[in-house]
Amino acid sequence: MALVKGKVAIVTGGASGIGRAAALVLAREGAAVMVTDLDGAGARATAEAISKAGGKAASMKQDVVDEALWDSVFADTKSLLGTPSILVNNAGIAIAGAIMEYSLADWQKQMAVNTDSVFLGTRAAMRAMKETGGSIINLSSVAGLRGSSGVSAYCASKGAVRLFTKAAAVECAALGLKIRVNSVHPGIIDTPIWQKDITRMTETMQAEQKAVLTASTGGNALDPNVIAMGSTPMARPGRPEEVGELIVFLASDMSSYITGQEHVVDGGLTAR
Ligand SMILES: NC(=O)c1ccc[n+]([C@@H]2O[C@H](COP(=O)([O-])OP(=O)(O)OC[C@H]3O[C@@H](n4cnc5c(N)ncnc54)[C@H](O)[C@@H]3O)[C@@H](O)[C@H]2O)c1
Repeated sequence: MALVKGKVAIVTGGASGIGRAAALVLAREGAAVMVTDLDGAGARATAEAISKAGGKAASMKQDVVDEALWDSVFADTKSLLGTPSILVNNAGIAIAGAIMEYSLADWQKQMAVNTDSVFLGTRAAMRAMKETGGSIINLSSVAGLRGSSGVSAYCASKGAVRLFTKAAAVECAALGLKIRVNSVHPGIIDTPIWQKDITRMTETMQAEQKAVLTASTGGNALDPNVIAMGSTPMARPGRPEEVGELIVFLASDMSSYITGQEHVVDGGLTAR
């Protein structure tokens, strides 16, 4: 069954991890997909993978924090692929660090990339979809539902995404717009994010946790397999495609009565 046949989607952060998987699953289910990323070559590679599999896609280099670019993302998508009715605000970073050592510059960058971008994208999508309707899907995290040591700014940014999503959903309905807005909250998903700035999280871990990590990774990076083993009832990290399948459901008309809700995909991590 092609869940989103004939629809046009925009996916930010589509060069890697969850964004790449979401773009591929949306295309598999019949959507034409505009893949954007700060990594323009990576976005192009995802679009090429979609075309190779027989789907329709285009790509653009986009910094999601750049306000002026959002208009061209929607305009270019419309001229290349058709009127967009799906936006996946997925691009994100995790700058870890203990609060007492955390700089204001890192705090502001964390909030800009994870939160300002979701506001800018949602505003652009509401303006573009106000006549035709659509579905906006914002990537939050289990870190937007509860606190964790060493990632306070990330938690704050994802908590903001959670509640902004609810407010946007209520506002769309109040305005009579046929636009649904939902947030997705992944647990530990096996993507390259664990090799990036989040590695500073280890600084605030307790000695015991640190020893397990160091033994498995040489201390250079966080291993999602090890983290999931200790935190997730299903005892494994999620695959990016498993988040993509939830995103395509929320993008499709199968979820036509679902808006303003938080959708957790975490192997049971928040169940206990
Ligand atoms: N992997 C996990 O365990 C996990 C868990 C919960 C939530 N998330 C969230 O899911 C989303 C995707 O994460 P991922 O794990 O796939 O990470 P990833 O690092 O694999 O991919 C993120 C992508 O976003 C892009 N990006 C970063 N800053 C950008 C910017 N300013 N403008 C445009 N693109 C930018 C990167 O180039 C990269 O391609 C993020 O919002 C992340 O916070 C991930």
